[in-house]
Amino acid sequence: MKTENLLNIKHPKNYKSSNEIVSQYNKYGWVSIKNAFSKIEIKKIETDLDNLSKSFCNLKFQEAIIKLHKKDKDKLYKLCLAAGNTTSHLMLINKFDDICKKIFKKKTSINLGQFILPGPPKDKRLVYNFHQENNYYLDYKNTMHFHFPIYNNANLENGAMSALSRSHKINRIKKNHFTKKKKGFLSIIPKNIEKLKNSYEHDVFELKIRDLLIFDGNLIHKSNPNKSKKCRVVGITRLAPQY
Ligand SMILES: [Fe+2]
Repeated sequence: MKTENLLNIKHPKNYKSSNEIVSQYNKYGWVSIKNAFSKIEIKKIETDLDNLSKSFCNLKFQEAIIKLHKKDKDKLYKLCLAAGNTTSHLMLINKFDDICKKIFKKKTSINLGQFILPGPPKDKRLVYNFHQENNYYLDYKNTMHFHFPIYNNANLENGAMSALSRSHKINRIKKNHFTKKKKGFLSIIPKNIEKLKNSYEHDVFELKIRDLLIFDGNLIHKSNPNKSKKCRVVGITRLAPQY
């Protein structure tokens, strides 16, 4: 079906209707939307992150990521957790909720939380192997994930997220390798990942500021090493449609 290690770069699109968004999502397990946010929405998040970070360690957010990544990784994690809860980030929830309800045709979604992925430059530690988010949310039938770059565009060089397209149709994989890493982080990798990698297209999602990637909790995906000199900062919101 595909040649191993061949990466297809996917760019966001303008969708004419929500029906088009729903059908793309259902077919591939993801949809990448061009200019989903206004300049003001993203600028507000960046300003909030810089203000939070200055009160946290007297540095702007990206400078704080670089310094704390070298000197105090626990503090960096705490900063990123707090950063996910800025009011400007929370303000996006109505937009996400609308999309979630359209795709799953449900009346209610539960907010599972926000986070900011720091993506420090020249970093391998924060790279996750292939996994499904749904294996981290066993209490929910399905989950939906909203992923958007802040400060810098996400591309192949700085480690944009990639996924095995259409793999969400497998549903939640039961046979996984569990690896407990330092700091309590649990890695859950499908046991047959090598076979799966050969069976599905491997797509990388390049995203510009204001673009939004939405993906299904069953989509097998991973983040990639940031080989650039700048941070790859990503905002994350997770929702669970209620059945
Ligand atoms: Fe993930």
